Amino acid sequence: MRRLPLLEIYPKLEGAIPWKPIGNFPTPIRKLESLGEHTGISEFYLKDDSRSSALYGGNKVRKLEFLLADALRKEASTVITVGAAGSNHVLATSIFAGKFGMKAVGILFDQPPAAYVRRNLLLNLYFNTEIFYASSMREVPSILREVLSKFQGKPYYIPVGGSNRLGCLGFVNAGLELGRQVEAGELPEPDYLFAAAGTLGTVAGLYLGCRLSGLKTRVVGVRVTGRDICSPERWALLVNHTSAFLHQMDSSFPQVKISPSDVTLLEDYLGRGYAWFTEQGVKAVYLMKKLEGVSLEGTYTGKALAGALDYVDKHGLKDRVILFWNTYNSVDLSPLTGKVNYRKLPKPFHKYFEKPLQRLDPEGQT
Ligand SMILES: Cc1ncc(COP(=O)(O)O)c(C=O)c1O
Repeated sequence: MRRLPLLEIYPKLEGAIPWKPIGNFPTPIRKLESLGEHTGISEFYLKDDSRSSALYGGNKVRKLEFLLADALRKEASTVITVGAAGSNHVLATSIFAGKFGMKAVGILFDQPPAAYVRRNLLLNLYFNTEIFYASSMREVPSILREVLSKFQGKPYYIPVGGSNRLGCLGFVNAGLELGRQVEAGELPEPDYLFAAAGTLGTVAGLYLGCRLSGLKTRVVGVRVTGRDICSPERWALLVNHTSAFLHQMDSSFPQVKISPSDVTLLEDYLGRGYAWFTEQGVKAVYLMKKLEGVSLEGTYTGKALAGALDYVDKHGLKDRVILFWNTYNSVDLSPLTGKVNYRKLPKPFHKYFEKPLQRLDPEGQT
């Protein structure tokens, strides 16, 4: 049975925090030899969460080990969550909630069209997620109220991206996991760790986890969503809330209090907005695929890698140890989409199948 580094270091947390193992951890580290050579970064590494589970990988698995365990502890019958139309988080929640016998409801807000939006919507249909359309994120609360007013059974609510203090624990643990891999000599201590910052649970957890590990690594988030949900203020708040939450349950857990100026959030790589592909992001996806055979995408990880490469270049960091955290799923579920028809989706989602796609590369691969 897998043990969490977090519980090994703070055994009083055992039983106090809900946790159910659903993924394969630790995830592998690999050196990016070809990309390193191409970019002139001599020590360039990848932490690969893309196969964090054989069912569906990516960064959501770490968060869901805590969130779904809490839902089960509270005897919920249904998990309700929120994301964009092509949300990886909603899909992952649905897949793993189903494994625990819970139903999933997703409130999905509008986003730019792309092939992965189609794929994830069809997969939601395949996995029996009940989905509702919101024309924007602002409309989500009123739709949520409506869904809840008609609801029968016991719901459990997971906020957008699974980024509350409980979901964040998945990445506190990930920082401790990284510390152990450094200790074991799998990679030198990274000077910089780059990851996509959407709803911030990933980078906030990593910030805390790296600090607990005693790593001097600077966690750098690349903002890929709007400032309303992704800002240094929110990042610092999530770190502080998560550490206070753990401190409450185990007083030996340090009460970390940081301010927005303590975090590094790169804000120049979003482009036109959330999920609009950028030229730099598309180029980064292409480079990673061509040189390392690793598949990224245009909404999160492509922009994050573009930000990382530009930051390293502009700050003269090519001789430092750089770690890029791959948060994107690599389990190909697209064969399942052949069995479902988009016309069975609620009508407002049909437009994603009827309007032209945003293309990620000249072949239109996303
Ligand atoms: C592939 C991928 N990377 C990164 C993120 C961002 O993670 P977070 O919301 O924890 O900032 C997401 C969130 O949806 C994602 O799907």
